[in-house]
Amino acid sequence: MDLLYRPRRLRGSAVLRKMVRETRMDPSSLMYPMFVMEGENKKEEIPSMPGQYRYSIDRMPEILNELADAGVSSVMLFGIPDKKDEKGSEAYNPDGIVQRALRAAKKEVPDLFYVTDVCMCEYTSHGHCGLLKGKDVDNDPTVELLAQTALSHVQAGADMVAPSDMMDGRVLGIRTKLDENGFSEIPVMSYAVKYASAFYGPFREAADSAPSFGDRKTYQMDFHNSREGIKEALADVEEGADIIMVKPAMSFLDMVTKVHDVVDVPVAAYSVSGEYAMVKAAASKGWIDEDRIVGEMATSTFRAGAQIYITYYAERIARLMRDGV
Ligand code: PBG
Ligand code: ZN
Repeated sequence: MDLLYRPRRLRGSAVLRKMVRETRMDPSSLMYPMFVMEGENKKEEIPSMPGQYRYSIDRMPEILNELADAGVSSVMLFGIPDKKDEKGSEAYNPDGIVQRALRAAKKEVPDLFYVTDVCMCEYTSHGHCGLLKGKDVDNDPTVELLAQTALSHVQAGADMVAPSDMMDGRVLGIRTKLDENGFSEIPVMSYAVKYASAFYGPFREAADSAPSFGDRKTYQMDFHNSREGIKEALADVEEGADIIMVKPAMSFLDMVTKVHDVVDVPVAAYSVSGEYAMVKAAASKGWIDEDRIVGEMATSTFRAGAQIYITYYAERIARLMRDGV
């Protein structure tokens, strides 16, 4: 046969395959999301996320040290408060759960980079991501509280803040508030392209943050839309976002690529709780090879254009990377 192209030539040996790889990964690109709760000596497994826990502040160092040992460079903190109210007051309480967790973690394990999720759904009695006006979230007053929340996180030691509420103008609100208070060097990673998704189910169980009525479709994006995601990403960059996130990851890798191609800032992708739960469930049945699946999920996210991969599998992937995924 007179074939011009024989792509198989470059697949003939492990050495050659590895030599020509396009996507190479490093654990420093991994960010681990974790839940912190009130109480003492608590490490509670999340039922729909086997292997993931809610930690009380005093138990955080064990997991933080493990992550650091594995080479994971950053964590993203979610708080689970004891008290919730209409206004989500604990979100911006300077002595709230995340604020205290940050102070403790920065002292105990100072080498990690600490990011905080900025939202109100874990703190409101109704479970929505902001203040209510009737049955809907009231955008502009919510932005003010989010900015206050972000400032309280930074004052407690956060290295970066990540608003996940999807209110319009919240990046500008947060950026302005941080700058006014002398924190112009602290970056904002915006959950800019965040879809209203069933993949968040296990998280809402973990954080006790499901909305008590309705859904999040008036603020999170409709998953049928792609160009709307570009608009969100561009708007947030203009408002001062330093990193743009796409969420969820696996079913939304087209958006990772598109965003990467149009914005000039790093792109993060968040492999969310439902993705983790699906892999865990199938693996526990022996139906899939967990390590190989997780390796493909991570690699494809970086291949799509992400610089940061936020995943509950961060530690495991870091270890897999060492052995060459
Ligand atoms: C808070 C927030 C959510 C997630 C990250 N930040 C839940 C939601 O929007 O309902 C989801 C993360 C996951 O599913 O792993 N707004
Ligand atoms: Zn929220």
